[in-house]
Amino acid sequence: MNTQIRKIIMACTGLFLCFFLLIHFLGNTQLFLAPEEARKSFNMYSSFLTGNIFVKLVSYVLYLSIILHAIYALIISTINRKAGGHYSTDNRGRSSKWYSRNMGILGTIILIFIVLHFQNFWYVYKFGSIGLDPWGHKDLYTVVVTAFQQGWLVIVYVIAMAALAYHLIQGISSGIRTLGLFHPKFVRWINIFGMVYAIAICVGFALMPIYIYFTHN
Ligand code: HEM
Repeated sequence: MNTQIRKIIMACTGLFLCFFLLIHFLGNTQLFLAPEEARKSFNMYSSFLTGNIFVKLVSYVLYLSIILHAIYALIISTINRKAGGHYSTDNRGRSSKWYSRNMGILGTIILIFIVLHFQNFWYVYKFGSIGLDPWGHKDLYTVVVTAFQQGWLVIVYVIAMAALAYHLIQGISSGIRTLGLFHPKFVRWINIFGMVYAIAICVGFALMPIYIYFTHN
């Protein structure tokens, strides 16, 4: 498989993951509601998602995208490293931003975050022993609140969201460029769009654990 095809797979899976993040973020904004209302609507929403066959199919595409995105990132950076160059992982030189030269490191931090995140919530929801709320749904809200009452976990999440923001700022514009989804004269606007999208989503996500920590301790 040539490098261009690998880059196209990275771009498609990456942009799909960005779209998932927006949906995930919008669903999670229910955590900002008043506690009893948040518990009811967040648990109802999670139970709707797990019971829906279409959502189930999309989540298989999601898992596959995470795996492919990580594997191809590893393959491409290994090839780049073997090809040599002035810098060990990238030879774009010092004129490029530090985060565009360190996409591999940022991606690795995010991958570790995703493993921790799956263990925190996804695993507990699917396989853990989890109580029911007064409306008969699995009480994922209480699992989330209990997790974010721990200051260290809030700090880990905030650091991971900073890594995610830089990864997305670089990734969104380079993914759109790889797929040639715009006219070259709009490069500046694509970069601005990527930056606003990345910062809005990551700041919003980071505020969730912070908000829960300060309202439930
Ligand atoms: C910091 C705020 C976040 C909160 C409170 C949060 C909460 C949750 C919860 C409660 C679940 C379990 C839902 C379920 O399995 O039905 C979940 C699943 C998931 N989260 Fe997050 N999340 C956050 C940020 C993120 C970020 C930044 C990413 C990606 C980098 C992410 C990726 C995922 C994925 C891939 C799943 C599995 C979805 C599925 O099974 O379909 N989450 N999240």
